[in-house]
Amino acid sequence: MNAPAKTEDFAESIPAGVYAEKVLSVTHYTDRLFRFRMTRPEGFRFRSGEFAMIGLMVEGKPIYRAYSIASPAWDEELEFFSIKVPDGPLTQHLQKIQPGDTVLMRKKPTGTLVLDALTPGKRLYMFSTGTGIAPFASLIRDPETYEKFEEVILTHTCREVAELKYGFDLIEEIRSNELLSEIVGDKLKHYATVTREDYPFQGRITDLIANGKLFSDLGVPALDPAVDRGMICGSSAMLKDTKELLEKAGLTEGANNKPAEFVIERAFVG
Ligand code: A2P
Repeated sequence: MNAPAKTEDFAESIPAGVYAEKVLSVTHYTDRLFRFRMTRPEGFRFRSGEFAMIGLMVEGKPIYRAYSIASPAWDEELEFFSIKVPDGPLTQHLQKIQPGDTVLMRKKPTGTLVLDALTPGKRLYMFSTGTGIAPFASLIRDPETYEKFEEVILTHTCREVAELKYGFDLIEEIRSNELLSEIVGDKLKHYATVTREDYPFQGRITDLIANGKLFSDLGVPALDPAVDRGMICGSSAMLKDTKELLEKAGLTEGANNKPAEFVIERAFVG
């Protein structure tokens, strides 16, 4: 066994000043993707859309990576959506976790994909590829998102259809949650596309913005800085290309200390 993940295996070696939480459930979607939920430390506060440093003890040393918290700020548990990289320093071990195992988390969450970093608007676009959907999994389940925006559009693009499943599960969970479904109503639109398989909706989100198909499919007008706001999470190439399109449409990039019309999360890319 490479990673001693059971608390009792390394209880004495948990680094000081970090949380050690218990895995509650693990769902594997594909050979590249899985979701897990774990206990939430008492007193751990975060804003929906932020990320935390998640880790495991591997051969006596903690290894951490930045992970968006996929659960909303009100949730009693914490959820994460992860890629599995065969030789990834953390994910080769993390993909093997089971309920009852222990996962480490550093104490301070942070991030730019927060509602506070956007100026008021009417329509909020969340552009994601792959596991970049994770911060939006948090935000689409947060009532505050729907207090601030009349319409919320989550776009998710993956290579293959099976990789879209987590996004569809989220929508289903919202619909079957009595309280949340009432708040969300018909404000949330989920626009899922794939790039390397047959599917009714195909293509990179950048191409679908550039050729206008995204807007005609959704029945909304083209991007307008007066009403539209954006959040982007994906690979570095996707961030760069999507940012260019939003800027071309007249939107400017914001940050926590300088709210504007769109924000980007750069924590996950090298
Ligand atoms: P494609 O299949 O055409 O490369 P990845 O797993 O490599 O991060 O890709 C996830 C999704 O993001 C894929 O559908 C991929 O499309 C798409 N993608 C990759 N690069 C870009 C980019 N520069 N702009 C928009 N989408 C991209």
